[in-house]
Amino acid sequence: MSFSPYYRPRRNRRNVATRALLAETVVKPSDFIYPIFVIEGTNRREAIASMPDIYRYSLDKLQEEIAACYDLGLRCFAPFPSLSDEKKDKYAKESHREGNLFLQTIQTLKKDFPDIVLFTDVAMDPYSSDGHDGLVENGEILNDETLEILAKMAIAQAQAGADYVAPSDMMDGRVAYLRQALDEAGYTHTGILAYTAKYASAFYGPFRDALDSAPKMGDKKTYQMNPANVKEAMLEARLDAEEGADMLMVKPGLAYLDVIRVLADNFDLPIAAYNVSGEYAMIKAAAQKGWIDGEAVMLETLLGFKRAGAKVILSYFAKAYAEIYPKL
Ligand code: PBG
Repeated sequence: MSFSPYYRPRRNRRNVATRALLAETVVKPSDFIYPIFVIEGTNRREAIASMPDIYRYSLDKLQEEIAACYDLGLRCFAPFPSLSDEKKDKYAKESHREGNLFLQTIQTLKKDFPDIVLFTDVAMDPYSSDGHDGLVENGEILNDETLEILAKMAIAQAQAGADYVAPSDMMDGRVAYLRQALDEAGYTHTGILAYTAKYASAFYGPFRDALDSAPKMGDKKTYQMNPANVKEAMLEARLDAEEGADMLMVKPGLAYLDVIRVLADNFDLPIAAYNVSGEYAMIKAAAQKGWIDGEAVMLETLLGFKRAGAKVILSYFAKAYAEIYPKL
């Protein structure tokens, strides 16, 4: 039988240059926000067992690490503090104590690298003896009382030099509350990266190892979203946009690419995707076992976020990506 297909899409995939020419999605180092962990002390660099190649750094070591990232073209960072238990209490008082490790970190990094952009997490969990993002009373997470604590934290971070505060707590009304609190304190230029659709996810496990911040009782399902829902993500996005968010985030990323797409299609604010710790750990673990090609899977994964509509990617792969980017 003589048959020759009339349509041959493979012509456009014949060689490297043609494929590069026609690539619809490109990931660049400037697309990333790199999450980094800071600990007390000096000259410390601690491995995190469930996150190979990611470390907790004391501030002096973190300065070196940020310098290395800077040289690779990374400019945007999301620091998280890892505190010892004696610094934690029910009210997360350490979170807004003047001169605390986190505020010191923000100040130092902005002084060393004035053109970096810092996104600082606003939630109680790293400072809470209950390991929750909000204030716990008789087993309940109190919404409105938590807002006051979050606002103190956000103002302290803005004062230290944070470019965007990033509420990851999922309390109702927090974007409006923080916007008003920041404006009244004179920080009209400080942005809000809202963790808009943050799901109650098992993919956060390694992060909670890194910060030793797992909830002491219960789970986070009364404030973080049900993984079954996407309409509810639209509701959260509408509220965050109306309340004054500057960017909307979906978290985790990989199991929620449809949510990223829906928000990207329906909102004109930039959408961020958080490629969370468990997603990182799965790829690293399978690669260590030789079961997958870790680098190739990383590249494919990061493309997936952008293809789904994310403008910004928070990822523990940011540095590894920036390292190989010139060769891509
Ligand atoms: C807490 C917070 C979490 C992450 C970022 N901020 C964990 C949680 O909600 O329990 C997870 C990030 C990751 O897994 O990489 N406010």
